[in-house]
Amino acid sequence: MHEAVKEVLVTEEEIREKVKELGERITNDYKGKNLMLVGILKGAVMFLSDLARHIKIPVLIDFMAVSSYGTSSESTGVVRIIKDLETSIEDYDVLIVEDIIDTGLTLSYLTDNLRKRNAKSVKIVTLLDKPERRKVDVPVDYVGFTIPDEFVIGYGIDYAEKYRNLPFVASLKEEVYKK
Ligand code: IMP
Ligand code: MG
Repeated sequence: MHEAVKEVLVTEEEIREKVKELGERITNDYKGKNLMLVGILKGAVMFLSDLARHIKIPVLIDFMAVSSYGTSSESTGVVRIIKDLETSIEDYDVLIVEDIIDTGLTLSYLTDNLRKRNAKSVKIVTLLDKPERRKVDVPVDYVGFTIPDEFVIGYGIDYAEKYRNLPFVASLKEEVYKK
């Protein structure tokens, strides 16, 4: 097993099946609509690229990068946009694609921000949900997997910018935190 991995929580196979299922649901739900996927960099990159291949209707893809103020362990809810969308989303049905929802502060800010730009609709798909840590209520429309309150890595998700390339989702070994 990989040096940083404590336990594999979601296998490659489980991710593959779930992403296909989510893509089929989104295809059905967005038929006849003006779908734009907005991926949140960098964590959602793998999820978005796999998901998009299972969406069988026309779709635009754009990205945003955000960072939260304050220390990573104490989220303030104030989010700074590091990279914004390239185009207007007016009249688009925006689907935010996120890797993981934890306190909910990031997605709460982002949905408010995008709604103010006159999108026709703004919904959320997240690969992972850690409901135990929620601080603000955010309606999440599509959830891949609900996971316990553990720090995870893999399939796009990092610890100190590392381990994004693992093909599964795993909890991080305690020893690695201390390094
Ligand atoms: P929230 O604002 O607390 O919901 O934070 C969501 C963001 O925090 C995610 O997009 C991730 O970038 C990061 N994050 C939350 N939990 C984890 C984790 O277990 N591993 C790595 N990053 C995480
Ligand atoms: Mg993120």
